[in-house]
Amino acid sequence: MSDAFVELFGRRQEGTWSAPGRVNLIGEFTDYNDGYVLPTSLPMEAHASLARREDDVLRVASAQGTPGGGERVVAVRLADLRPPGHKGWAGYVLGVAWALREAGHTIGGADIRVDSEVPIGAGLSSSAALECSVALALRAAFELDLSLEQLALLAKRAENDFVGVPTGIMDQMASLLCVPGSALLLDTRSLESRQVPFALGPAGLELMVLDTRVRHELGNSAYAERRRACEVAAAEIGVPALRDVEIARMGEALARLDSEELRMRARHVITEGARVLEVVRLLEDDSVAEIGPILTAGHISLRDDFEVSSPELDVAVDSALATGALGARMVGGGFGGSAIALVRSSDSGLVERAVVEAFAAAGFAPPRVFVAAPAATKTSPD
Ligand code: GLA
Repeated sequence: MSDAFVELFGRRQEGTWSAPGRVNLIGEFTDYNDGYVLPTSLPMEAHASLARREDDVLRVASAQGTPGGGERVVAVRLADLRPPGHKGWAGYVLGVAWALREAGHTIGGADIRVDSEVPIGAGLSSSAALECSVALALRAAFELDLSLEQLALLAKRAENDFVGVPTGIMDQMASLLCVPGSALLLDTRSLESRQVPFALGPAGLELMVLDTRVRHELGNSAYAERRRACEVAAAEIGVPALRDVEIARMGEALARLDSEELRMRARHVITEGARVLEVVRLLEDDSVAEIGPILTAGHISLRDDFEVSSPELDVAVDSALATGALGARMVGGGFGGSAIALVRSSDSGLVERAVVEAFAAAGFAPPRVFVAAPAATKTSPD
């Protein structure tokens, strides 16, 4: 890292700050409905190296910026940062600087180089990891008095208003607050959170990530459409957000909706909220092996009610379950990206082979399969 920085900018960085990618155990598409999510961090991280400058120029580069080529440096004066921001990685990096200034924080010029191990476009929050590593770097370099929650909100603002994707707060909060060996129960309305034990090793289990390596174009527009549908459904039901519908009163609430499509979308969000709390109860009860069927129920709800799965994700989930996975589901924004499977450690080789073979039989390109947890050696980002 240090050599590449010196080569690009002609001096050493003052420091390097890191933030991980995440998988969400359960609680998908609940964050923009003010609901609960339960993400856990991945061992893969994004790293931001930074050196302050005397002027008001940001020069940024990414190790992943130009595949196969030398690194391109994007230079921009702080005062010239405004949305719509740059495309790709530069938008996430510059967007954080923009969001900090918009919120009235004083930062100066800086040279920043990012380098990330988080697979890009795999539904594992590579963008939030980038934003959060840069947010941590800028906070430290310019001595900003900001909590991790405040940093997460600013990173989200970068993504929503500079990059222009209407995501919720889960990914940035996960990247900044998750600690290894735990899952983060986050109430996305109050931003209150607590660590829930997620120790797979002692239970003889592993969490596998099945990255389909496919991202369907439909993804971004469908994400925004689903979000709008949830807002319409909440308004028709007469609640501030779908989070406010108790599971016991779901039938009554759904009956107030005009269309079958809205009923399906709302049913996913309402049942998913209940699934988060049930998984938390089992984890706190030391019954991690029992969460499998709830994860799978989450997948079925995402596939059939929220309609955000894809043929590749369904094959990944079905083949993992057919070879003995205790539970499996798609994660993240949908329409491609990754699924997770909870497996007995002794079965992980078998499950991996089954998924790879099922992809070949379906005529899909080979997936990337890896174990997400336990991540024994990782340290907390802060
Ligand atoms: C993406 C978004 C998150 C969340 C998930 C779905 O990862 O960035 O805010 O909405 O999709 O749960």
